[in-house]
Amino acid sequence: MKQLFIYIVSVFVSTFVVAQSGARLTLNFNNNWKFSLKNDSTAIQPGYNDASWRTLSLPHDWSIEGEFSKDHPTTTQGGALPTGIGWYRKTFVLPAQAKGKQVRIEFDGVYRNSEVWINGQYLGLRPYGYSAFSYDLTKHIKPAPHKNVITVKVDNSMQPNSRWYSGSGIYRNVKLVATNTIAVKKWGQFITTPSVNKQQAVVNIATELINVAANDASVTVETKIFDGTGKLVTTEIVNKANTVKVGKDGNTAQLALKINQPKLWSVAQPNLYKAITQIKANGKIVDEVTQTFGIRYFHFDKDKGFFLNGEWLKIHGVCNHHDLGAMGAAVNVRAMERQLEILKAMGCNAIRTAHNPPAQELLELCDKMGFLVMDEAFDMWAKKKNKFDYFADFKQWHKEDLLDMVLRDRNNPSVFMWSIGNEIREQFDSTGITITKELVNLIKTVDTTRPITAGLSEWNPEKNFMYKAGALDVIGLNYHHEVYEDFQKHYPNQIFLGSENMSAFATRGHYDMPSDSTYFWPAASPQKIVEKGNPDFTVSAYDQVSAYWGSTHETTWKLIKKHKFLSGLFVWSGFDFIGEPIPYPWPARSSYYGIIDLAGFPKDVYYMYQSEWTNKPMLHIFPHWNWKPGQLVDVWAYYNNADEVELWLNGKSLGIKKKEGDALHVQWRVPFEAGTIKVISRKNGKVVLQKQINTAGAPARIELTADRNNINADGKDLSFITARVLDKNGNLVPNADNALTFKVTGAGFLAATDNGYQADTVSFKSATRQAWKGLALGIVQNNTKKGNITVLVQAVGLPPATLTIRTKP
Ligand code: GAL
Repeated sequence: MKQLFIYIVSVFVSTFVVAQSGARLTLNFNNNWKFSLKNDSTAIQPGYNDASWRTLSLPHDWSIEGEFSKDHPTTTQGGALPTGIGWYRKTFVLPAQAKGKQVRIEFDGVYRNSEVWINGQYLGLRPYGYSAFSYDLTKHIKPAPHKNVITVKVDNSMQPNSRWYSGSGIYRNVKLVATNTIAVKKWGQFITTPSVNKQQAVVNIATELINVAANDASVTVETKIFDGTGKLVTTEIVNKANTVKVGKDGNTAQLALKINQPKLWSVAQPNLYKAITQIKANGKIVDEVTQTFGIRYFHFDKDKGFFLNGEWLKIHGVCNHHDLGAMGAAVNVRAMERQLEILKAMGCNAIRTAHNPPAQELLELCDKMGFLVMDEAFDMWAKKKNKFDYFADFKQWHKEDLLDMVLRDRNNPSVFMWSIGNEIREQFDSTGITITKELVNLIKTVDTTRPITAGLSEWNPEKNFMYKAGALDVIGLNYHHEVYEDFQKHYPNQIFLGSENMSAFATRGHYDMPSDSTYFWPAASPQKIVEKGNPDFTVSAYDQVSAYWGSTHETTWKLIKKHKFLSGLFVWSGFDFIGEPIPYPWPARSSYYGIIDLAGFPKDVYYMYQSEWTNKPMLHIFPHWNWKPGQLVDVWAYYNNADEVELWLNGKSLGIKKKEGDALHVQWRVPFEAGTIKVISRKNGKVVLQKQINTAGAPARIELTADRNNINADGKDLSFITARVLDKNGNLVPNADNALTFKVTGAGFLAATDNGYQADTVSFKSATRQAWKGLALGIVQNNTKKGNITVLVQAVGLPPATLTIRTKP
């Protein structure tokens, strides 16, 4: 449920500047926490002196602040960063407006095994690091002017517990919510649109109410719906059952409203509505909640694929883990939004939240920006994938963790499917039947509007017990593209979705030739480490290398594209992520799977997708043009909206090429000659686009560009600064590895640096970053002050470069 976020001004003992939404207070509780990595359990005592602890703001991920080491118990699979046990404390005074109210603390996610105390009283434990949870503080909290202290212990010391980088700490937002005795239950509102057509949509609003007072009460429930422009769009109440009695067992108010000429939510036009619900007792507002939602309908057809609002749509999805590259796991809305912007420009229309419930802010962005989301609960059930992973908690916690995900996310229009798990080991034995049924039934108790799937790695229906359960609405297959054409034979009357595909590898800017030989790494080595890789831990960025269980990008996409019944796919992965550096051992510490590197710089295959998934004319050639004289260089071009492309070297035509058959790129083999390589695309004989690359000379200067030159002075907003090493004529120097030092002054600070190279073992917090293939990234964060931020980048032998960013309140 989205509620008003209220800014808190906190000093050592927090005081609050509070705004009020109806009778409910929602307070941003992120500021002024104390943090220590010393494991001292006396910190739960209210009088504990934490003056020497570090002061910080949440969300916070302590792992990302550390140094990489092959000795960290996470192993490189978990990102080779430190974990351990961390303690957080926050001392605060309850604002006067919250006096006498029911007070709850809401944690959006703590990785992992959090335990929480207030004023020394134990509130509980939450093992799963991806669940949102809350505690009722009412009994223990003291009113102003008394101080209260919340203590949180986070235990991520038992390692390894993840197959990817998890982060450590209170890495998602925290809120304090104060309500009256009668209130809307947390995640208690569910908005559905059972009937939608061009003329009219019926909007059902179920609002679950609680009453903790001694007496039953009669309340009225009124919802008004506003469109994206803020216009009230509902007047007519279809079913006026809006007076309900609420006793100690609670009650649910059911309203049905009509919207005429609804503006549907789609990936192209993500129209949203806002429902404001007021609860009144004796004519007085006792609670008010605001819920964003969208009006859309969709279905899968076993023969024709997927339809959104009646229109056929191929699912162009990517799987992403939750880390934000060099920013780590700590939720930052701008870092998420940037990832989604880059994916949107590629034509991606769907995200799979591999392999856990995401931050709610990610879903809000997907609602706003137009992405479908496959919301996934688990990477394992009761059978482990790592020694200390969630398997041991599954039995006791899976019900709560699964339901909490669905309850939290069932109003997000972007969420179109639930996944009950990824490559779950129970698919191989009969326990898979029981658990699949149980989880599917659980979800259906709280949401019947979305199909349920899973990422199955056993493609054979005879051997897959999760399939045999007969409970999955959509068959999600991970990999095994070789059986896709026969899917309808193997799975009669079932719906296909590629829940995870490709696992192709690449390092941005590195090219191995010949480009048309394909490699499957790491062969079948049981160590899952490539034996004959490159000495610098690179993988060619021609689309020619994949994991042996996957395929190149082109291979699987060609198949999915060819058949309508293959409703879509989710490429593994959209972005490189920290951890799982298959096929290499240390010092590789982040993944090679991304279409986009860890720093957010697209690899070449990004443009293959763009040529296929967007209609805007595009043209991309690679590699760079710095080779040895006479060396045979493979030049590839991705293009769309054109009949042909022609390549020119130093003014000489090297011939016209067309994508023949189902080809997705064209290629020339060219003896290298320094100068200019140029490609021109034409349609009906007319030039559509042209691109050229010049042979670069020695590094001569640094060019800085910011993704945004104006950012908010809210303490969180970011500007992503790309540093490019150029020669004297302005050409990118493709192998430049100059050490660049970022210095940020004024209204911001340097949050992190990166270059996208998977085997760079310099901490993300380092101000000095070597360029990788000519590029580096500096991430600048505002410090809440209004004014200018100056970014200075220096490198030995090059003139310094500067750039100014402005912050606005
Ligand atoms: C899949 C798995 C992903 C990732 C991927 C790498 O089997 O679901 O999490 O490990 O392989 O290829």
